[in-house]
Amino acid sequence: MRLKIVFLICIFGGLRALQEEKRLLVNDPQMMETQIVELQRQVQLLKEEMTKVTQNNNYGTTYTIWGKRICPQLRNTTTLYSGVVAGSFFTETGNGANTLCLPHDPDSVDANFPINHSDGIAHLYGGEYQFSFKNVVYQDDVPCAVCRVTQATSALIIPGKLSCPSGWVKQYQGFLTSNAYNEQKSEYLCLDDNPDFIERSRVNENGKLFHPVITICGTLPCPPYKNGTYVPCSICTA
Ligand SMILES: *[C@@H]1O[C@H](CO)[C@@H](O)[C@H](O)[C@H]1NC(C)=O
Ligand SMILES: *[C@@H]1O[C@H](CO)[C@@H](O)[C@H](O)[C@H]1NC(C)=O
Ligand SMILES: *[C@@H]1O[C@H](CO)[C@@H](O)[C@H](O)[C@H]1NC(C)=O
Repeated sequence: MRLKIVFLICIFGGLRALQEEKRLLVNDPQMMETQIVELQRQVQLLKEEMTKVTQNNNYGTTYTIWGKRICPQLRNTTTLYSGVVAGSFFTETGNGANTLCLPHDPDSVDANFPINHSDGIAHLYGGEYQFSFKNVVYQDDVPCAVCRVTQATSALIIPGKLSCPSGWVKQYQGFLTSNAYNEQKSEYLCLDDNPDFIERSRVNENGKLFHPVITICGTLPCPPYKNGTYVPCSICTA
């Protein structure tokens, strides 16, 4: 019996001690202040991190605009560099498959790099329009620019559309181009539909060619497509 009472007193005492401690924690102004200061510090760190993320170069996306010297004059878009289009010659079966935007101020590789043409070599040519439209005429050389978009993480080309999904920003619109169907393969590129040309380039030297692309019905469903029509495209970011 006595043991039981001692035991109960012990439990009761323990509970009281716990309650005291709790009250002490909640009511201790110094403790509260320390925690508030710590919270403020964390919020400040978060704010700084957000500013870095949205304003510095560690947030954004890039794309290439084909047929323009500079990037679209949009609020969140800047021109990283302007250049000239380069790629494979339209009749050569080898070389690279993709199209490049080469800057106007090239660097050189190490002068000691041993170049031995009999080991095999690939070619890089300029790009030429194969149509006349607005400011450009047949044989003009094709400019390009590499663009950076802040406030976005995705860049998307939508063939067949002149608009962008809701919530996306249209960077530019155009139409699909590639080498002609009876030439060597190249990529389909979305060329700006108000193209510029590179000054003093009005000569026929060929290279990577920009022919407009048309649809051929059959496996491609018509409608909605129409046979023999040009294909619009848009570049969208979000
Ligand atoms: C620029 O970014 C802001 C903030 O994300 C966005 O609301 C706005 O639509 C963007 N504007 C353009 C033209 O990209
Ligand atoms: C160039 O490459 C060919 C074929 O690999 C080789 O026979 C020749 O010796 C090389 N020439 C030089 C200067 O290295
Ligand atoms: C579609 O157009 C191509 C090229 O102009 C032509 O050869 C073909 O016969 C056309 N097909 C149809 C179904 O009209």
